Amino acid sequence: MPLLHIDNLHLAMRSFDGEAHVLNGVELKVDKGEIWGLAGETGCGKSVTGLSVSRLLGTPPARYLQGRILFDGQDVLTMDERAMRRLRGRAISMIFQDPSTNLNPVLRVGEQIADVAFEIGRHAPEVLGLGPQTGLAERRRAAKQLGVDMLERVGIPDAARRAHDYPHQFSGGMRQRVLIAMALVGQPRLLIADEPTTALDVTLQAQILRLLSDLVKRSDTAVLMITHNLGVVAQICSHVAVMYAGHVVESGRTREVLRSPQHPYTRALLAALPRPGVPRGQLANLPGRVPDLIRPPPGCRFAPRCARATSACTVATPASVAVSDQHLVACIHLDEVPP
Ligand SMILES: Nc1ncnc2c1ncn2[C@@H]1O[C@H](COP(=O)(O)OP(=O)(O)OP(=O)(O)O)[C@@H](O)[C@H]1O
Ligand SMILES: [Mg+2]
Repeated sequence: MPLLHIDNLHLAMRSFDGEAHVLNGVELKVDKGEIWGLAGETGCGKSVTGLSVSRLLGTPPARYLQGRILFDGQDVLTMDERAMRRLRGRAISMIFQDPSTNLNPVLRVGEQIADVAFEIGRHAPEVLGLGPQTGLAERRRAAKQLGVDMLERVGIPDAARRAHDYPHQFSGGMRQRVLIAMALVGQPRLLIADEPTTALDVTLQAQILRLLSDLVKRSDTAVLMITHNLGVVAQICSHVAVMYAGHVVESGRTREVLRSPQHPYTRALLAALPRPGVPRGQLANLPGRVPDLIRPPPGCRFAPRCARATSACTVATPASVAVSDQHLVACIHLDEVPP
């Protein structure tokens, strides 16, 4: 049984102009220790997928139409809010895309990590290295110490002193390290990281990604790394799922998918990657735009932009076909895609 199984998830989102069919049968299986990249252009439903797993989307505007999200075999969509809160705090943790929602500017950095640790320690005292019958004061002390330890673990020099600083006294890269510390303090089994390094410059981005992958590998934590950047995927993800307009069009081991992409959309994304000596083209070989999800095109949502599309493509959403072990592609013209 996979740790996380998103099973045929359909989701609609109410907006000003009408209801958008944002997720169209998302399929994803994540095992422990795997680092999955969830990639695709802006608006394709990456964040909504991540937020669904931790059930952080308001309903409304969101409406779950169909499908299940199984975490350890249990459907999070049918869990009561209390069970969900416990799961969120502990087993599933998240680093959000919007940096302003992440750190509280008026609280000391160490305190913020300690608060999370303290809260988790309420139900899971072992996280703090404590037994079940420990008093509040002891728990608070242990949480504070764990806050400092975590800062150390994510590479903040002089952690015991820096724990007393406020977020604005940290650089952007250090703040990102703090967020990682906060997300990992409860030893989660699944970390959902939504564009965690997008705001950083490239060198720093590489450092932080390496840190993140080192830490999760040590603890066997599974990761869903949301990114529009296939470079990030290539750097740290063991697996990748490419999304287009709310559907996973191709997925598999990173090396295989990036070396021999089969879906025309994956190929277009790869062709648009900046390379030395080649001018950067934003999907230059791919005319058109992401479809309107309030009135999505019938069948394969990529068909209107696809050079290979035929009338057969407009009949139904293509089912995913295994082209090799773990490599799935959702395209009915697979045989015709040149190698
Ligand atoms: N709170 C919301 N209310 C209404 N529509 C929303 C809301 N959040 C997202 N959407 C819509 O859902 C679709 C998917 O959005 P999502 O944020 O998941 O995209 P994304 O792949 O994460 O894009 P990006 O790379 O820009 O972060 C978009 O069409 C978006 O407009
Ligand atoms: Mg997003």
